[in-house]
Amino acid sequence: MSVAVPNLKPLTEDPERYEEVFYKAFFKVSQTDVLLEKLNQFFDEKVMDLLTGVFGREEVVSLLGVGVGEGHTEFHFLKSLQTHYSSMCNIAVDPNEGMLQTFKTRVDTLNSDGKSSISCHWINGSLSQFLTDSPMAKTKYNLISAIHSLFYAGDFETTFTQLASMLKDKGVTVIVCKKGKYRIDKKINKRCTV
Ligand SMILES: C[S@@+](CC[C@H](N)C(=O)[O-])C[C@H]1O[C@@H](n2cnc3c(N)ncnc32)[C@H](O)[C@@H]1O
Repeated sequence: MSVAVPNLKPLTEDPERYEEVFYKAFFKVSQTDVLLEKLNQFFDEKVMDLLTGVFGREEVVSLLGVGVGEGHTEFHFLKSLQTHYSSMCNIAVDPNEGMLQTFKTRVDTLNSDGKSSISCHWINGSLSQFLTDSPMAKTKYNLISAIHSLFYAGDFETTFTQLASMLKDKGVTVIVCKKGKYRIDKKINKRCTV
């Protein structure tokens, strides 16, 4: 069914509206891509130095990813860490089973290239389920990431404090959340990137 809108010209005959629609439709998408690229670059240039400066090659590096989705960022982290560490342990938490499966398929390709061994635990549930039900919530991690996911996980300060308590000494947390939505007042004695 089509609805006739008076005076509405086809987009191809209306460059100004074409530009506006294009901008609105793709701005968010392109912004996300730019952010992702910057984050990956930041990880390679800064976070890798922080981690490798403290944790030796012989260490089994452990990563906890909260709300990983399809794991775009965490996949990059694993790939970069693979250049330095031969053994890694990756815990991925997300209530969306399909997304977790996509991440799993991608990580399988890293395992099959033989550069390192990555043992994985796929936690299909929310962060609070993980914290209450999983023995792995009692472990300390070298790297904890939460990319665009903490706003789903309840009170930000509480969640942040819980995650910080799961960091190894000199471990790193990488958190990305919507600008302006949260303020972090709490100073923690560990390294954190927001
Ligand atoms: C905006 S997406 C971000 C996904 C991914 N980190 C990325 O940057 O592409 C938010 C993710 O958080 C997950 N999520 C929703 N509620 C959650 C919760 N309570 N605990 C953990 N993850 C949650 C969703 O399933 C989704 O994959």
